[in-house]
Amino acid sequence: MSALDPALESFLRGLPKAELHIHIEGSLEPELIFALAERNGVQLDYPSVEALRAAYAFTDLQSFLDIYYAGASVLLKAEDFHDMAYAYFQRARADNVLHAELFFDPQTHTDRGVPFAAVMEGLLSAQAQAERELGVSSELIMCFLRHLDEEAALATLEQARPYLDRIVGVGLDSSEVGNPPEKFERVFAAARDLGLRAVAHAGEEGPPSYIHGALDALKVERIDHGVQSLQDPALVERLVREQIPLTVCPLSNVKLCVFKQLADHNLRQLLDAGLVATINSDDPAYFGGYMNQNFVETFAALGLNRDHARVLAENSFRGSFLSEQRKQAYLAQVADYCEA
Ligand code: ADE
Ligand code: ZN
Repeated sequence: MSALDPALESFLRGLPKAELHIHIEGSLEPELIFALAERNGVQLDYPSVEALRAAYAFTDLQSFLDIYYAGASVLLKAEDFHDMAYAYFQRARADNVLHAELFFDPQTHTDRGVPFAAVMEGLLSAQAQAERELGVSSELIMCFLRHLDEEAALATLEQARPYLDRIVGVGLDSSEVGNPPEKFERVFAAARDLGLRAVAHAGEEGPPSYIHGALDALKVERIDHGVQSLQDPALVERLVREQIPLTVCPLSNVKLCVFKQLADHNLRQLLDAGLVATINSDDPAYFGGYMNQNFVETFAALGLNRDHARVLAENSFRGSFLSEQRKQAYLAQVADYCEA
């Protein structure tokens, strides 16, 4: 891989940015997995941190999900969710991520007998501490696991009722192919009726029809990944016309073999087509890096420049669920930084 100009690298690292696609369970580093396993008396299938990390050689999305759900098995108590999320916020702050919209997967925990309240209390306390001590603002997006049925998703939405003022929206993740968006039409309608925003993973491994499905059946405001959209020119035209943000995750796409190498990634084409693309880390503990690592490696591999960086940072705040007033304040920070 070609080295990045040090001045551009430093510019990228300092750039104010928002992260819109981070699964908080995917920020669980192997060291913390082992520490929580010990604290909670959970037996792991791996003898050491090194052995666990060595298992992070994925061939596709499913091969990752199997190990990701196993890693999450150490999360039992509110303080575990707090410690995981606060560790993420510290890394976000170090990367000049000023605002983050966190996915969480309640079914991964409630199906193991962890109370919904433990998940929420831990995440909420970490958010409050991050705002107070790091100045990082955040929102929570509750994802439904698409390999499970819609009844289970509806039950999860019911469990979320006491916390609806603290959850900005719903998302859809887990095994994409074979689980099209239409399967979740009713639960997304119910969530929207409750005032929640909607996003969905689509076009990570799945076909462009799943992106159409997410827009038409689920009425989502953002598409998570969406890198398969370029196969369908009519879809690209629609995404541009409707200014639907795509939360692209370059290092994830390489680790899960969506692209063979970063130099083959289509982010530049997405931007050139006028799509509202953003850079995100997805599951940074598993995919080789947090936000700045994604920026630096992608810019080096694709030969992107400062103009691309500014557009990506602006897209990240524009595509967020912040109020219009707060978006404008963050966009002004981006402008100041880029014009300094
Ligand atoms: N859950 C965590 N990471 C995911 C991804 N990249 N795609 C689908 N579901 C996920
Ligand atoms: Zn994801």
